Amino acid sequence: MFSRFPLRVALMGGAVAISAAATGSALLADEVNIYTTREPGLIQPLLDAYTEKTGVRVNTVFLKDGMPERVASEGQSSPADLLMTVDAGNLADLVEKGLTQPVESAALAEAVPENLRDADGNWFALSMRARVLYAAKDLGLESFEYANLADPEYKGRICLRSGQHPYNTALFAAYDVHHGAEATEEWLSGIKANLARKAAGGDREVAKDILGGICDIGIANSYYVGLMRSGRGGDEQKEWADAINVILPTFENGGTHVNISGAAVAKHAPNRDQAVALLEYLVSDEAQELYAKANFEYPVKAGVAVDPIIAEFGELKIDPTPIIEIVAKRKEASELAEKVGIDN
Ligand SMILES: [Fe+2]
Repeated sequence: MFSRFPLRVALMGGAVAISAAATGSALLADEVNIYTTREPGLIQPLLDAYTEKTGVRVNTVFLKDGMPERVASEGQSSPADLLMTVDAGNLADLVEKGLTQPVESAALAEAVPENLRDADGNWFALSMRARVLYAAKDLGLESFEYANLADPEYKGRICLRSGQHPYNTALFAAYDVHHGAEATEEWLSGIKANLARKAAGGDREVAKDILGGICDIGIANSYYVGLMRSGRGGDEQKEWADAINVILPTFENGGTHVNISGAAVAKHAPNRDQAVALLEYLVSDEAQELYAKANFEYPVKAGVAVDPIIAEFGELKIDPTPIIEIVAKRKEASELAEKVGIDN
């Protein structure tokens, strides 16, 4: 696209002004606008690769938070084509607020497992993260069920970030889908009783505090291990990660809880077709591998390689519960966590 510009100007000779205007409108048709909460460093290389391949310019607005509010306030004149964020709950919120539109695409339907996309095509998962167990190496644990977190043998031995953080809310909600509210409340009070310290900090602090001898096990996201072990988080974090073994915990069905990053086409997308084309690219083998490796996530598309650090955890078997069912239990799970005083 950009390389054609000077050529056309040259050919049109004196009619430069008209030519520029015409080219300008052509440029507008060949661009796509993304609103995203994902870190620029994670997705920019992918978007650059897309532009190089297709000539389509990708304009990105990075938003730390407040994406639904911004898109809603822009209304019909919103330039947003693609809304990209993490956590299934955030994607479901976009649908609930009427900010998305359904997309029918064979490529997307084929690449993204059914339980990881909206039934009406309003959003699609692009990558996954597992909620895993960090365990002190000397424990020698080889397997673990989420239910075990409430076992009395772990009294005073568990570290956890806030029980109201969306990562934990989604896990608790998944437990609720599997076991019902009563059993979930019992489980959560067991976890509360087992905490070694206040439920606070970030996921990486679980590894830090295992190294520090404060706790023996904890629950945290899979990709942080990649960020720590690769050295990307600095030397100190590498030491934290070296203190732990990572186990993929399971529900009784043998599946591990995952959450997603994903994207939705905006309701008033001015470049709808380009947005769909970019989404389809993002689930291609090439993009899935790049995308997953950039943040040590799991690709959603079967058969695409994960980073070797993540592959070491063993084969991920995803809990097949539709993620939308988990989203529906978020409120109840959060209330149960509040009821047992998990963050007190
Ligand atoms: Fe995170």
